[in-house]
Amino acid sequence: MTEHWTPASWRSKSAKHMPQDYPDLAALAKAEQALRAMPPLVFAGEARRLKSLLADVSEGRAFLLQGGDCAESFKEFHADNIRDTFRLILQMAVVLTFAGGKPVVKVGRMAGQFAKPRSAPTETIGGVTLPSYRGDIINGMEFTPEARTPDPQRMIQAYSQSAATLNLLRAFATGGYADLHNIHRWTLGFVADSPQGARYREFADKISETLTFMEAVGVTPESHPSLHQVEFFTSHEALLLNLEEAMTRVDSTTGQWYDTSAHLVWIGERTRDLDGAHVEFFKGIKNPIGVKCGPTMEADDLLRLADALSPANEPGRLTLYGRFGAGTIDKRLPALLRATKAAGKSVVWAIDPMHGNTLTANNGYKTRPFERILSEVKSFVEICKAEGVHPGGVHLEMTGQNVTECTGGAREVTEGDLADRYHTHCDPRLNGEQALELAFLVAEKLKDERLDTARRAAAGGAN
Ligand code: PEP
Ligand code: CO
Repeated sequence: MTEHWTPASWRSKSAKHMPQDYPDLAALAKAEQALRAMPPLVFAGEARRLKSLLADVSEGRAFLLQGGDCAESFKEFHADNIRDTFRLILQMAVVLTFAGGKPVVKVGRMAGQFAKPRSAPTETIGGVTLPSYRGDIINGMEFTPEARTPDPQRMIQAYSQSAATLNLLRAFATGGYADLHNIHRWTLGFVADSPQGARYREFADKISETLTFMEAVGVTPESHPSLHQVEFFTSHEALLLNLEEAMTRVDSTTGQWYDTSAHLVWIGERTRDLDGAHVEFFKGIKNPIGVKCGPTMEADDLLRLADALSPANEPGRLTLYGRFGAGTIDKRLPALLRATKAAGKSVVWAIDPMHGNTLTANNGYKTRPFERILSEVKSFVEICKAEGVHPGGVHLEMTGQNVTECTGGAREVTEGDLADRYHTHCDPRLNGEQALELAFLVAEKLKDERLDTARRAAAGGAN
């Protein structure tokens, strides 16, 4: 940390993947000033609550489910989209909780996931070169000089969309929609008549039966409000530090700094330099935070990052997301797991099976084969088991919409189908059916783990 950390101390460091070309710096300063005057989106106490739940994950007592759009957009901002992703997360969480026998910590990649790192700063089409699209919070997707010019007013629009999204999520989470008794109603229309829909209904039937039994013995939503609502948290990649700085406030109860733009924020694979602006900013905020770990991450670098970002080694503070690719995970993950374990680092290890498995289809679409995504998740669980580390969670790009962006899955989306409903503003997402299929697979793995642990405990007890 620079000697005196402030929410602005990142400004003296190199800030990768952030726009350096706002044409009107006075307008930028004005937008930042306006954001500083806006109410926080989340409270520090909520961020602490998530940290304590992630501490449970780091100690093997819970599982993290994190997911949502690759990039939220102004155009796709509809109540239905928010509801559909929210209910997909609920469905997946039910499947995972039932199989794993552990609470599932639910975190949306929502209500603030707008800024994107890009592989190249410019894009050339038909001999014309323009700045790359960096997410709706920075510039527009259309290939025109006007749209591609960074506009600070977009930060204000992103804030207001995040506030409205979070408001609806809070209403769904606590207002009765997420009541476990509604479990049958969460089924997404287009998933209902699929094999995953049928499997989900079987689960839902079992849970409904259990609820009836529990009510008969006096466990009701009135006596146990947790049956009536869920805890739901928000997260995004804190890439555009101008906005994150403006949303960083002192918590009056503890006197500590919290980034109030989301409960959890993470540093991407491309901005995790120890001496860079992003790591500097993250050092001073007290939220639970994450770091993406890709194929070039070395064990030493990881330990240095963990020391810098979590010097007190507080459980729940740091979540590490492996994102290596299905063919690479077995070569890269074991050394990293061994390093954090040997150094006694209290971290959550989770898997992002999306970002290492992207390829370009023959027809030019960026896609991700479902088998590779599944394969990386399976490898993650197996490697964790072999290394004696809890496989703590999954981080997914997914949507409740019936899109065709990733190939494969039970309905066998082909490369030829990609053009049908390819709506993403950045990377290809799992659709509801593919995401639920993945949840069933992870559930089976978690169930095996639970039964193994129970067997080991029983064998130990008999000795
Ligand atoms: C992302 O999560 O959208 C992302 C860009 O991931 P990564 O930093 O792992 O490439
Ligand atoms: Co992405």
